[in-house]
Amino acid sequence: MKVRAIMGALCAAGLMCGAAAAQAAEQVEVLHWWTSGGESKAIGVLKDDLQKQGYVWKDFAVAGGAGAAAMTALKTQVIAGNAPSAAQIKGPLIQDWASQGVLVNIDSAATDWKKELPPEIDKIMHADGHYVAAPFSVHRVNWLYINKAALDKAGGKVPTTWAEFFTVADKMKAAGIQPIAMGGQPWQDLTLWEDVVLSQGADFYKKALVDLDQKTLTSPQMAQVFDTVRKIQGYFDSGRTGRDWNLATAMVINGKAGMQFMGDWAKGEFANAGKKSGSDYICAAVPGTEKAYTFNVDSFVFFQQKGQSAATPGQLALAKTIMSPGFQEQFSLYKGSIPVRLGVSMAKFDDCAKKSYADEQAAIKAGGYVPSLAHGMAQADATAGAISDVVTKFMNSQEDTKTAVEALAKAAKTK
Ligand code: BGC
Repeated sequence: MKVRAIMGALCAAGLMCGAAAAQAAEQVEVLHWWTSGGESKAIGVLKDDLQKQGYVWKDFAVAGGAGAAAMTALKTQVIAGNAPSAAQIKGPLIQDWASQGVLVNIDSAATDWKKELPPEIDKIMHADGHYVAAPFSVHRVNWLYINKAALDKAGGKVPTTWAEFFTVADKMKAAGIQPIAMGGQPWQDLTLWEDVVLSQGADFYKKALVDLDQKTLTSPQMAQVFDTVRKIQGYFDSGRTGRDWNLATAMVINGKAGMQFMGDWAKGEFANAGKKSGSDYICAAVPGTEKAYTFNVDSFVFFQQKGQSAATPGQLALAKTIMSPGFQEQFSLYKGSIPVRLGVSMAKFDDCAKKSYADEQAAIKAGGYVPSLAHGMAQADATAGAISDVVTKFMNSQEDTKTAVEALAKAAKTK
């Protein structure tokens, strides 16, 4: 009786009611790789929301851009029978995990998602006709970030073609500015390389990296892609080996370097450093890719927990929160992305995010909306990994273009 009375009083005070009180202690373990300044702020919004709902957040953060280290840690946990409640997994990998029979469906949290999500993205969140993943936001990968003061000092203009890009890079060099800040991990190499593939046209990108068409992969245009990448490398500094992406972004933020090729999670770093788009830095589409958009949609999948046959209340709360309009807005404001949920107001977003949104709509209409290979949206792991190896080998050796193109065509056959 006494306990009931206390619970009743708490309930009346709006603190804990019935089922919520029983669930209050559920711990949700969340595996992700959001550890940079902007990324941590963004995931912090989810943590706070969940804790407000009475759940205990157990953070399982594995540092390492693009998640390679996180995915290795995840496999170990699942094999050991300690799957987290939720993990950051995206693209075709969602299907892979679903086919292992280790995920739970979150249909009951997703009753209105079909009308709230673009159809291409809604489809990715499904396995066997059920929702198994919750999407956070849309990142555009094909961005070039430019330090405004460096550009002005060099007397350059925002490049829209590779010829213009090399002119700006030369001017920066002449002005004593390191033209490009580049990190040194395979996924960063692949991010730049896919940008250059995209600059040959969205159709070329699709045929090469989505359809894996051998004729396209071995075409003279593909040789040109490798040649352009080689030329761009001439503007890197010598200290990039092992450098994290956010440290390269910091070089542009601090004016140590002029430009960086990176997806718009980099914008989360600029925002976190108090920098304003337009006056402190410029976001431009990678030269030659203005009309195209490489998308990268982060999502969480939900693992079956010990002794449970279905999603737990904590897992469903996570899924619901991720797709709620308020969270969608605040998360993307910190993360540099745009909300994936349709109809969320863009009023509080900066010019870069507004451009991302407008360019996305235009690209969808014009057929220029393509999945990012470097960020796990275009191909299964094995294929993407084999292509990544070819690109990284090329970029970290003196390998000639012909050898690289042959290796690429072979790698694309990896299943
Ligand atoms: C993820 C982003 C993340 C970036 C760097 C990408 O693959 O989609 O959310 O910020 O990697 O870690």
